[in-house]
Order: sequence, then C-alpha cells, then structure tokens
Amino acid sequence: MTHDAQDLAFDRHALRVTPSLVDPFGRAITYLRVSVTDRCDFRCVYCMAEHMTFLPKADLLSLEELDRLCSAFISKGVTKLRLTGGEPLVRRGIMTLVHSLSRHLGTGALKELTLTTNGSQLQTYASELKASGVQRINVSLDTLDADKFRAITRWGDLKKVLAGIDAAQAAGLQVKINAVALKGVNEEELANLLEWSHGRGMDLTVIEVMPLGEIDESRLDQYLPLSVVRARLADCYTLEDIDYRTGGPARYVRVKETGGRLGFITPLTHNFCESCNRVRVTCTGTLYMCLGQNDAADLRKSLRASESDELLYAAIDEAITRKPKGHDFVIDRRHQKPALDRHMSMTGG
Ligand SMILES: C[S@@+](CC[C@H](N)C(=O)[O-])C[C@H]1O[C@@H](n2cnc3c(N)ncnc32)[C@H](O)[C@@H]1O
Ligand code: SF4
Repeated sequence: MTHDAQDLAFDRHALRVTPSLVDPFGRAITYLRVSVTDRCDFRCVYCMAEHMTFLPKADLLSLEELDRLCSAFISKGVTKLRLTGGEPLVRRGIMTLVHSLSRHLGTGALKELTLTTNGSQLQTYASELKASGVQRINVSLDTLDADKFRAITRWGDLKKVLAGIDAAQAAGLQVKINAVALKGVNEEELANLLEWSHGRGMDLTVIEVMPLGEIDESRLDQYLPLSVVRARLADCYTLEDIDYRTGGPARYVRVKETGGRLGFITPLTHNFCESCNRVRVTCTGTLYMCLGQNDAADLRKSLRASESDELLYAAIDEAITRKPKGHDFVIDRRHQKPALDRHMSMTGG
C-alpha cells in the first residue's frame, strides 16, 4: 500500500461514523447485496423461465474480483453484506469467498455477513457458514406441501430444503423464512407457514411478486396483494405493529398468539424507497443503484483497468451520485410486460 492509500484507509476508518457513501437524497449507503452467480438449481415460476439462458462463465467476476469489489465497498462504509444470486451456494468455491470476506468481521469494519439461499445446499454448508462468522441467513420457502413445492420451484426437493433448515438451526444460525405470496398457489397456506416458522423460532417475511424479467407465466395471475394477505391473517391472529426494522423494506408486526415476527415486503402497494440504504452488484460487476430502475454502472471495467482500487472507488462514488429517489413498479392489465428486463436472479432481490 502506498502512503497515500494508507492515509486514505486511515481516514476512512476514522470517518466511519459519517459514512462516505451518501446519495443525493442524504441516504447513507451501508448495505450491499451481491449476486455471486445468475445460476440456480431451482427454476421458481415467478423468478425464471424453465429454459433460461445464463451468462457465459467468462463474463463472471472471479472470486478474487468479487472479494476486491466487496472490500472496496466495505472501506467506503458498507457494514452489511448479503450474498445472493441465483443460488449463492451453487457458485463453485463460494466458501473461499465467505472465509475471505469474514476477515472484515474480524476488524469490525463489517457488522454482518449474511446470505439469501433456497436452502438446497445448506446441509453441506451450514456449519462452515457459522464457523466463518455468518450469524443469520434468509431461506426462501413458499410452501410446506411437497407437490406444490415441486410445482413452484420446478426442480426443487422440499425434503432437502427442510433438512437444510434443520442443519442451519443445529449449527446455530438464525434463520428467517421468506415466502412469495402467490395467488391461488400458497395463499391458503400462509397461516400454516406462519405457525410452522414461529414454532421453530424463525421470523417469516411475506413478499409480493415483482415484475422482473420475462417468465413463462403472467405475473398478473401470480400477483396477490399483501393487503389481502394481511387482512386474512388479521382475521385469525392479533397483529401488533412493532418498530423492528432490519434496515430493509420489510415492515414487521408481532403475532400475539405465536409471539413471532411477521414481515411484509410490498414494493407494489407501498413505497419503501425513502429509507433505502442499499445497492446491488451483479455477478458481472454491474452496480444497480435501485432494484426497480435500469440505470447501472460497470464496475468490472474499473476493477480490471488497474490493480489499484482508486478507479474502482471513483466509479462507485460517481454511481452513487446517480442513485434515484425511488422506483415505480406496476402490475396491471395495461402493463403486461415486466417493468424491467432483468430477472431477480441477476440482481438477487
Ligand atoms: C432471486 S432469489 C436469490 C437467492 C436464492 N436463490 C433464494 O431463492 O433465496 C432472492 C429472493 O427473491 C425472491 N424472488 C425471486 N423472483 C421474484 C419476483 N419476481 N418477485 C418477488 N420475489 C422474487 C425469491 O423468492 C427469493 O426469496
Ligand atoms: S428464487 Fe432463488 S431459488 Fe428460485 S429460481 Fe430464483 S434464484 Fe433460484
């Protein structure tokens, strides 16, 4: 490291209380979500078409490049890092990246290293994740019915995912369940999923379908507004609004009867943009400043242009000046096309 770079690193450390990434609307960017692969061992009907064309492997950032990129964001004030995908645990060598990134937990620069997974590989990796300093994970699970699970994920095996969740809890990982609310598919089952999650000490978050990427079905057919979900659950349970926030878009209630937390992510019926603290990077190094907008910055170019990180820092700074105030997703009969061409598996949700 040159003296200048050392001074800069020192300054950044000293300035950690005033994060160095602040967008034009005064929002400090402290949360980075990184999609480490666009590939997946499932083909969830709301996420992917059955026959997806994936990126050529040569386009992907290497594990070393992903590490460099994440570390650059961490030196610029990011304190929470989520690995996602595609399915992050199917990326070859993923644990090498997790181990390596965990050094930032050791220095205190990073407060949380976590991931969102479909759970299929958790039996293999749960203990290693915990040993690397991961404390909490999100597991996506839309149903407890094996046949429905197969119909939703096309390729998934519920038994494997449930065994993965068992392994995660046995390893001491805190698990939150994410379920996408799907009209006519799991809408009758959400109370059951809630009882099951809370019975095992896991929070449950319900997510509305978002119009990202072409799929084989119509999103209008899948779309179930969470206002409906909430009203139905409120018929059977006492939902108490609570202040609990994870820095994300979810709004939580406490379910009095179970004692557990229930979150709602409603990008379509609600605006959660004003407190947005996050940005997303794809596995090719494209930085999206907003999940719901197309504007992006190519960080791979800056990464590969020089061994020093100065170009990368400059590209990140410049991109953050373009973070938009918010998005404007719509699903209705006049907007049958996806609001955005890219799939959730590119940006990781
Ligand atoms: C894209 S996945 C990536 C991580 C991992 N494969 C998983 O399923 O958890 C992240 C989350 O996005 C959700 N998701 C995918 N496509 C979606 C869509 N069109 N609308 C709403 N949620 C979606 C998934 O259910 C999952 O909870
Ligand atoms: S939601 Fe996750 S598990 Fe399902 S297809 Fe998309 S990336 Fe794969």
